[in-house]
Order: sequence, then C-alpha cells, then structure tokens
Amino acid sequence: MDRAYKPIPGLCFSPTANTVRRSNRGTLVMSSARQHTGRVCPHQAAFLLDNWLRRILQPPQKILRKYVKQGDTVVDLGCGPGFFTIPMARLVGAEGAVVAVDLQPAMLAQVRRKAVRYGLTGRITCHACQPERIGLALAADFILAWYMVHETPDPGVFFGEVRSLLKTDGRLLVVEPKMHVSRAGFETQQAEAEAAGLVRLAPWRGRMSRGMVLGRA
Ligand SMILES: C[S@@+](CC[C@H](N)C(=O)[O-])C[C@H]1O[C@@H](n2cnc3c(N)ncnc32)[C@H](O)[C@@H]1O
Repeated sequence: MDRAYKPIPGLCFSPTANTVRRSNRGTLVMSSARQHTGRVCPHQAAFLLDNWLRRILQPPQKILRKYVKQGDTVVDLGCGPGFFTIPMARLVGAEGAVVAVDLQPAMLAQVRRKAVRYGLTGRITCHACQPERIGLALAADFILAWYMVHETPDPGVFFGEVRSLLKTDGRLLVVEPKMHVSRAGFETQQAEAEAAGLVRLAPWRGRMSRGMVLGRA
C-alpha cells in the first residue's frame, strides 16, 4: 500500500488510475479506464483537515455527540489524519471501540501518533483498506463517512459494504463538501445508497456541506 499510493501536494489522483491528463485548472489528474473521477485528498494536505480553524467551523464533539455514546462501536471511514477519530474515541469511552479506516497508510500513521499522544490507543484500531473494498467484519452502532464518498471509485458498491457493517439500528452519517459535490451529485449518492439497501432518515445541515443520516432499510 505504501508504495502504491504516493500522492504529491497539488496533484489530485485516483487510486485506480491508469491515465494522466491536465485538468481545466492546470493540475495533473489521473483517471481510470472505468471513468472514475474520484480524487483522493493527499496525506501531504492533512494539515488542511486537522487544525484550529476547522475545529471552530466544524466542532467535532458537538457534531458527533448526537450519534455516539459510551460503549459504542464506531467506524470512521476515510478518517484522514483523525480529525473526527480522536473525538469519537473520547465519546465512546473506555468500553467503546473506534475503527479508523483509510486507504493511505500515511493518514493512518497520523491517527496512530495522535492516539498515542492522547492516551487513546486502547480504543482505536487502524485499518488500511483498498479503494474498492473496506474489508472489515463488524457490527457498528455508528459509521461516519465525512468528505470521502466522492473519492470512492463506486459509491454504490461502497454503500452496499457499509450497510453490511451497520447494526440493525445503526446509523451512517454521510457529509460531503459543497465545493466538490453538487446538489444533483448528492441526490445521486442518496439514490445509490437507497439502491444498496439504506434509507435516508434525516438531513444533516452544516456550513459548506451536504449531509444525510442513513440507516438500514
Ligand atoms: C477529504 S479527506 C477527509 C478525511 C476525514 N474524513 C476528515 O473529514 O477530516 C478524504 C479521506 O478519505 C480517504 N479515502 C478516499 N477514498 C477512500 C476509500 N475508497 N476508502 C477509504 N478511504 C478513502 C482519503 O485517503 C482521505 O484520507
């Protein structure tokens, strides 16, 4: 995995890439034969995902405490550098468990370092996945997919696998950035989630974002 993904700052790339082109904005973009246009946020840009400004704009504890309680098993899909993973680990408490999932080992390395720094290693497990397969077997009370579904090669397949990881009454929170996902694009994601056996239970509203809470249909 480490050798497979070597993103360069400013370079958007697709994990299933096999061609390279220049985007309208002049950045290099790799795209796959399957027309996957998902671009993965490179680990070198992790500082954009975990900083004091974001904690003000998207306070993680405040956002998550509605969904995560003590003793829960929760999954942070596409966890990046752990902006939500660490607060989740605090919310589940000593009896709970957090699985942080990402396809970039360098992102998971940052999560591990933070888990050590904050004394949370006993509650956090890091899992390196493949772009098209999460590869977990568990029953989660809550799954978070924040700013990552648009980076997956096939959201329909992704939602199907996520459904299989949810407890019957488990909840999935999907949040996407407006700057990358249009209203129509988000509606398509919802349709793909519903086709995969999920149902939208409520909208989620936040600054600069589109979101929905889903459960098993
Ligand atoms: C924009 S970042 C968001 C990180 C984090 N959720 C946050 O909000 O801070 C997207 C993350 O999703 C990961 N990612 C992209 N596609 C993925 C996939 N198919 N499976 C797992 N992780 C993926 C990327 O490596 C990246 O760390």
